[in-house]
Amino acid sequence: MFGKRTSTAESAPARPTPVAVPAFRGVGDMAKKTPPTIIEPSLPHAAEAPRSDEYYVTKSMIFGALIEAIDLSQLARLDAESAREEIRDIVNEIITIKNIVMSISEQEDLLEDICNDVLGYGPLEPLLARDEIADIMVNGAMQTYIEVAGKIQLTNIRFRDNAQLMNICQRMVSQVGRRVDEASPICDARLADGSRVNVIAPPLAIDGPVLTIRKFRKDKLTLEQLIRFGCISPEGGDILKIIGRVRCNVLISGGTGSGKTTLLNCLTHYIDAGERVITCEDAAELQLQQPHVVRLETRPPNLEGTGAVTMRDLVRNCLRMRPERIIVGEVRGPEAFDLLQAMNTGHDGSMGTVHANSPREALSRIESMITMGGFSLPIRTIREMIVSSIDVIIQTARLRDGSRRITQVTEIMGLEGDVITSQDLIVYDISGEDASGRIKGRHRSTGVGKPRFWERARYFGEDERLAQALDASEMKNEA
Ligand SMILES: Nc1ncnc2c1ncn2[C@@H]1O[C@H](COP(=O)(O)OP(=O)(O)O)[C@@H](O)[C@H]1O
Ligand SMILES: [Mg+2]
Repeated sequence: MFGKRTSTAESAPARPTPVAVPAFRGVGDMAKKTPPTIIEPSLPHAAEAPRSDEYYVTKSMIFGALIEAIDLSQLARLDAESAREEIRDIVNEIITIKNIVMSISEQEDLLEDICNDVLGYGPLEPLLARDEIADIMVNGAMQTYIEVAGKIQLTNIRFRDNAQLMNICQRMVSQVGRRVDEASPICDARLADGSRVNVIAPPLAIDGPVLTIRKFRKDKLTLEQLIRFGCISPEGGDILKIIGRVRCNVLISGGTGSGKTTLLNCLTHYIDAGERVITCEDAAELQLQQPHVVRLETRPPNLEGTGAVTMRDLVRNCLRMRPERIIVGEVRGPEAFDLLQAMNTGHDGSMGTVHANSPREALSRIESMITMGGFSLPIRTIREMIVSSIDVIIQTARLRDGSRRITQVTEIMGLEGDVITSQDLIVYDISGEDASGRIKGRHRSTGVGKPRFWERARYFGEDERLAQALDASEMKNEA
């Protein structure tokens, strides 16, 4: 089936041995001698078990022969499993022809490695396969960082050069029909497993292509887990469950990677199964468990720069879809206005996240999104809108030890003059650091008495649980 691959297993001995491909060791050497093909073998990297120089010499020799023997464009048309089979067959054949001696396990390892280079994302494959990695950050060919357990670490993963890295970026974004090159050097995409990819290439990125991957976590964290990790106290967790259940309008505020989307996903768990929920996201991340959920996703402009569907388009359309709750993955622009309106017009229990470092800042961000969105409304009107729509702001943070905490649960109270008033229900107090650099602190209830959503809780029959959670939280304060 492969144009260039005429020999079969039986005729293998008669097949002309591919021209000897010079072995290489160093980067410079490779650059000179590798045939001009879009795929290159990856360099050693230490996230895997260290391999000998000999391994890489053998690998590049086999790799070269493989490239000679197969038609890559046809390979691309096969499904992943068949393509892998095809590569395995040819590599096994090459090993036999060239009399390469290796153990079965070495051979398996090599096959896997070569398949990753040809079919997958080369040096990134081992990182993509590790579930505990949250983010992968590639700053040009020579520097790759990962984030594990909230900490950013440098890896030994390297690409042959920026051209190889660029090819891999290209392959990632071409899956969703996009292109990244000098003419359009910024690109967002999503991998088949749901991971989000951003590429910014030269000339905008000065030292080579920069690839950022936010890995999709299949086993989303639950509120119970967040409680176990100390992200919120058990009593605080109970209060959050009630907030989710009794249809408070919630804004989750926090920095990048602070756990906003994770928390939003947790809260949706407490939505009643009978409610019609519509989610709007830039790249679908939320995983709602309810049966009646409609998921919408924005669309970037196509190569000609047209056809974009913005978050605002989605949220506005949502309102015509008879939603009971609207969930906006990330509020960034003029859709803030539509979300507040939705919250105000009977779509209680709507939620969204916003990028801000405190509940106060979240409010002023929302305000400026509306003013910048071209709505010529007096500030006071915007603030009135905010006060009558948002019930609770939950602040998330990634602390300097890498841990993620809910640092404030704040209620919006009202307007005094032109100032929005609020009260904290729960705050996180940092008391210090232990010997290993882990931050010590605790969640404290502020003892404000009845929260504003008390009536709402009563309506949903959750008032007693709310009272218990508040009491328990206060008793802990005194202890
Ligand atoms: N409370 C937490 N404890 C540990 N890891 C968390 C917690 N919250 C989120 N994470 C992890 O942190 C990463 C970023 O979380 P995410 O919710 O996407 O952040 P954001 O939406 O604020 O950018 C994810 O890998 C997620 O699994
Ligand atoms: Mg997010």
